[in-house]
Amino acid sequence: MSYIHRNHAGELMVSDISVSALAEEFGTPLYVYSGDGFVAHYRAFCAALSALDVAVHYAVKANSSMGVLGLLARHGAGADIVSGGEMKKCLAAGIPAGRIIYSGVGKSDTEIRQALTAGIGQINAESAAEIRHISAIAAEMGIIAPVALRVNVNVDPGSHAKISTGQRSTKFGIPVADGEAASLYRQMADDPAIRPTGLAVHIGSQLTNLAPFEKAYLELLELADSLRSEGYDVPVLDLGGGLGIDYQGKSLPDFAAYGALVTRIFSNRGYRLGFEPGRSIAADNGLLLTRTHYIKQGEDKRFIIVDGAMNDLIRPTLYEAYHRIEPVTDKGVPCGMADIVGPVCETGDYLGQGRDMPDIGEGDLLAVFSAGAYGAVMMSTYNTRPEAAEVMIYEGKTHLLRRRRTVEELIKAEENPFG
Ligand code: LLP
Repeated sequence: MSYIHRNHAGELMVSDISVSALAEEFGTPLYVYSGDGFVAHYRAFCAALSALDVAVHYAVKANSSMGVLGLLARHGAGADIVSGGEMKKCLAAGIPAGRIIYSGVGKSDTEIRQALTAGIGQINAESAAEIRHISAIAAEMGIIAPVALRVNVNVDPGSHAKISTGQRSTKFGIPVADGEAASLYRQMADDPAIRPTGLAVHIGSQLTNLAPFEKAYLELLELADSLRSEGYDVPVLDLGGGLGIDYQGKSLPDFAAYGALVTRIFSNRGYRLGFEPGRSIAADNGLLLTRTHYIKQGEDKRFIIVDGAMNDLIRPTLYEAYHRIEPVTDKGVPCGMADIVGPVCETGDYLGQGRDMPDIGEGDLLAVFSAGAYGAVMMSTYNTRPEAAEVMIYEGKTHLLRRRRTVEELIKAEENPFG
């Protein structure tokens, strides 16, 4: 079920709250989230895997607003993090350290030490060098580090190149090929400062076809089974994130099909399974609201110039990503092609291109859909534009998650030695 819908008058709502009213109250550009939607998607993800022994670690990078983390913590979610900063946010939001998984190729010694001090549930290591650092730091601290190996199964996820991680050509994971991952696992098992907790795989994001998951998971299972047959303990298989969404808005993420696939491969195999979903929990539960400044007639199309820009939502220009864009109130039938562009001084500053749009006028509000994941987290202050504010609707109440900073605050964070 979607909590973002249109009422009988065709006006866009989040639960019972009109997004036009939110734009009036908080200004634009504005991210609006459905907290109820976040919880529903998290629950649907868990329910699809209920036949298995699983732990779900929400991928914080998708949307790390403290309010989102706090809400998911309240509903029992663990977290998948990629920095010391994300760890601190999760702990502050009430996610217990034991339910946090630390992924990523470039953890610093300081971050590793902080994670071990906090009692992190598992570090997913991505190179022999990283394992050496974890081992040395744990030994020095007199503790045993829980470490899983993130493996590279050389599977193309069939997604955009910039968000594909499964192939050998990428920086991610330790190759299963030539026995490299197996040999590192044996080495970890012999290391008194490390407790090997299992294997992890994540082949990419926005996968809309399940076949690459199947290929990757079968590879992972084969490696895990063979390590077990040698007598090694491999308690956990972390299956990563990556389940895609329908940016056209026609369907919700297919949790059931994904759950059925995982259940078919892993039931009765005796592994505890971990998951790191980000986009499939967050994306469909967020909108970016933006107000129209001007309409400008171009050579062969209209430019709808709005107050939201690439610094607020970088996905369209960075990944050629498509986000549905619609007027917040009913503006009638489409009347010709338009580009929806922001005020930033770059030709790449657009939220959508070549859209058949209705007659939009100055002051009209537009909603950019599926912006709950990799939206606000990727904001910048380029062109000295303060980041968009973020609000969440949860159980009928509106909560401000991030206040819009003032330009004065941006200036204050800097020093001018010549001023
Ligand atoms: N686990 C690991 C190790 C990851 O690297 C990622 C995403 C996830 C889980 C979560 O994947 P998801 O379920 O969200 O697909 N900024 C890009 C997406 C980058 C994804 C990076 N890693 C975008 O806007 O499309």
